[in-house]
Formats: sequence, structure tokens, C-alpha cells
Amino acid sequence: MSTTMPSESRYPFNVYPNGWFRVAFTEDLDPGELKRLEYFGKKLVLFRSQGGTARLFDAHCPHMGAHLGFGGEVVGESLRCPFHHWEFDGDGKCNKIPYAKKIPSKAVIGTYPVVEKNGVILMWHDRSGGEPTFEIPDLPEIGDSAWTRPEIAHWEIRANWLDMNENCVDQAHFKYIHGTLSIPPTEAKTEGHIHRTESHFRMTIPGGEGDATLLTLDHGPGFQIVRISGLIDTILMNTATPIDEERSDVRFAYTVKTEGDTRKTHLAEAVIKDLKQQFENDIDIWENKACFKRPVLCDGDGPVANYRKWYSQFA
Ligand code: FES
Ligand SMILES: [Fe+2]
Repeated sequence: MSTTMPSESRYPFNVYPNGWFRVAFTEDLDPGELKRLEYFGKKLVLFRSQGGTARLFDAHCPHMGAHLGFGGEVVGESLRCPFHHWEFDGDGKCNKIPYAKKIPSKAVIGTYPVVEKNGVILMWHDRSGGEPTFEIPDLPEIGDSAWTRPEIAHWEIRANWLDMNENCVDQAHFKYIHGTLSIPPTEAKTEGHIHRTESHFRMTIPGGEGDATLLTLDHGPGFQIVRISGLIDTILMNTATPIDEERSDVRFAYTVKTEGDTRKTHLAEAVIKDLKQQFENDIDIWENKACFKRPVLCDGDGPVANYRKWYSQFA
């Protein structure tokens, strides 16, 4: 019997789950700036109003379909279409047509809820257009002078968020892909939209061996915080946003607690370099794997099945 997935479907679940997903970083969007984006198989525009609020709209104008990202302009709190200068307010409603007496009631553009936290701009994606059902936490370490300014890394990967995030409970792969000296025991807990794991590692480090603890908190499918302690305290904000049904836009932000000590800065650089390499070790597996609805698991695999159960609330 064949064990491969039907060729028309790479994933046995909804590839566009509900949740908060990063669309940009705060530092990449100045007041008055407009960006073209493609996520969830849609063309979108992200802009920051002159007053400083980030907003995300569908790209095409409801009038005659111009793409607002090609020549559109931020005007105060509104976005102006390049084609006939209709303007849309923060709620996506047309509030100005320079040559009409009456604004049609259907002159509204699609909008998405946006929050900006921890230097990250996130959109709420909901397949039925519903409002957010949970919040993204503020991380006290981001912006704290004891921690380095977050360093951002970017990859485009032919994989879904599930294949990537599920790594945190896949305890056996830590040994075979990431070189831990043994298979690290991994515990998982769920609290509503939050999935929490804790793993204890022994790794080879310069000058010998060292112990490390890895704590992972998933706030829904799109925002994962990893805290690593042992060698030097390190935080990763891991975000993977679907571009389309095949590809994800992955951006990690790394920050390390150096407390302004230059010797620790060198260690921080080495740790971030190693973490990037560790992530890249997974890429060939992800880009070429099948995703089975019910993988054949064994007793040493870790809480993979629980992770799948948790994610089904979003998919
Ligand atoms: S297409 Fe946008 S104003 Fe006409
Ligand atoms: Fe991994």
C-alpha cells in the first residue's frame, strides 16, 4: 500500500490557519510608508499613517481594481488610490472622492486587524473574517538595555508553519539533525491558544560540553517565542507567515542577554550564528517531506500527537 499523500494536496489540514502572523517589523515601516505584500495567497498593502498607525488592506481598490501599492499614497490617516484618487480611512471606508457628490456605500476596501508589539507588526488572519480571539504578549526583554537589539534573519521556505513549529516537540530530531548528545526529554502543556514545551539538552560547546534548557511558547500558529538558558540567555521570536499554499516567509528575531559586556557580545554573535545554522539544518527535510495526517509514531517520539491536537483549533 502506498504511504504518500495524494498528489493534489501536500497538507492534510487547512494551510491558512487562524491566528496572528507577522507581516513586517516596526523598523521597516515609517510614517507615510506603503509596502506591497503577498501572504495567504492574497495581494495586500501595509502602510503607516502619518499619525503612526500600521494598517493592512487588500491591495485592489473596490472602484476599478487598481493595486494601491503601485502609486498609492498615504494622506494623513487615509490611503489614496493612484487611479482616480479615492481615499480610504483606517477602517477601509472610502471617505473622499474628489469628483463625486455622493460616496457609494459599497466603496469599502477589505482590512485586517493589526497589532504592533515587540517591534513586530502582526495581522490577524481568520478564514471567516472573525475578530481576534487572543492577544500577543509584550516581551519585557525587547527594548531592555541588558539585551542586544534583536537581529532579524529571513528565509523563504517551501514548507508550512506546522512542519517547522512541530520541531519543538519532535525530541528525537534534536539528536540526528541538531547534534545534541542525547535525545532531550521534552514536556508539553497546552493552555487554550498557548502551547508550551520544555526540553533539556547536553551539547558540545567550545571547550567541552554544556547543559541548556529550551522553553518554547507558541501563541497560536504564527508567533513562537523560544527562550534558551544555560550557556547565555537567548530569546528567539520565530514567525512564519504563509505566502501561498506551498511557501512560507520565515523571519526570526534573535536577542541575547549580554548586559553590555563586550566579552558576552562575542559569545552572543557565536550563539546567533550557531542558531541560524541549526535552523538551516532542518530546511532540506521540511522542503521535501510529506505531511501525514497520522504519522506512525513510537514511544520515544515526544508529544507530537498532542501538538497536532492543539493546532487543530486554528486549522
Ligand atoms: S481604481 Fe481606485 S480610485 Fe479608481
Ligand atoms: Fe529542528
